[in-house]
Amino acid sequence: MVGTPAINANPQSDLRSVALLAWYDRHRRILPWRALPGERMEPYRVWLSEIMLQQTTVETVKPYFARFLAAWPDITALAAADDQALLAAWAGLGYYARARNMIACARHVVGTLGGVFPDTEEGLRALPGVGAYTAAAIAAIAFDRPAVVIDGNIERVITRLGAIATPVPAARPEIRAALEPMVPSARPGDFAQALMDLGAGVCTPRNPDCLICPLQPFCAAAKAGTATAYPVKAAKKAKPVRFGTAYVVHDGAGRILLRTRPGKGLLAGMTEVPNSGWSEGEAPAAAPPLKADWLVLNAPVVHVFTHFELRLTVHTATMPGPVPAPEDMRWVAIADLDSEPLPTLFRKVIAAAD
Ligand code: ADE
Ligand code: SF4
Repeated sequence: MVGTPAINANPQSDLRSVALLAWYDRHRRILPWRALPGERMEPYRVWLSEIMLQQTTVETVKPYFARFLAAWPDITALAAADDQALLAAWAGLGYYARARNMIACARHVVGTLGGVFPDTEEGLRALPGVGAYTAAAIAAIAFDRPAVVIDGNIERVITRLGAIATPVPAARPEIRAALEPMVPSARPGDFAQALMDLGAGVCTPRNPDCLICPLQPFCAAAKAGTATAYPVKAAKKAKPVRFGTAYVVHDGAGRILLRTRPGKGLLAGMTEVPNSGWSEGEAPAAAPPLKADWLVLNAPVVHVFTHFELRLTVHTATMPGPVPAPEDMRWVAIADLDSEPLPTLFRKVIAAAD
């Protein structure tokens, strides 16, 4: 070759990725959405798993992934899914906007793209619910594109590897610049998943096991003995707290009073127990849904959303006899709660009133 080769002129020979892939071949996690060694995963499965794994742990996702695949084995089936059935199957994974986007995405892929997923990062990025991370992950894992995939685990490994001291998320461009030359043109999907597995099992937040780490010979933080100092985090602002009142009322015959949330806004279209809504400072004034002997629970139910923390004071009552449900509300058998798209927040409220 003439002249000085660029550092990443041949990414295939980056010693760090060679070491990492060799480690992955021996220690990769067996996960239901992963192909067998040497095989490629169906884009539908990769997409489904990546949407589910956004902000959720691998262990939580496993049973959901299996249930979704059983109910909707391919993108055509998912596009034809009943919205309520899908939201009910999603309940517990949180962030319901993701479930809505998932349906929208399936319908777009089937309705407009002939049921075929785009095979480039850019094309994937244009799909509903597919952000920069997810587009890169699908492009790498399903289509062998050398995309730069950065999730929380990878961010930790790379900041340690390069002792990148800029606080995250401001360090993103530096992390990307450090990672890009490591991405191999062969097996980029395995490379991304190897970093995820390394972050999950070896380069863990509190107890990184540098002694068994395949990247240890290349790692600036390990050399300095400062692994746990990375990633540096900017000081967090406390979340605002909102307050509200929730009403759990039983009819004495195994049923509970529920209603459906409006079609727009937070938890749109999901099921809830009657409540006052919520606001900062104090709970909005509200009347209970029925006249009854209400009991107030001592401890509020606390639930943390992305942008605020919610504290719901729970009022409970059991009706002495059957009464009709107030307008826009319905009695639902406790035994049927699992088929309701009932968010975790309201499951907690009902459980607290038990
Ligand atoms: N988190 C997000 N995507 C993942 C994957 N493909 N494997 C393991 N953990 C993940
Ligand atoms: Fe993480 Fe230690 Fe490996 Fe560096 S050597 S990547 S700090 S586990």
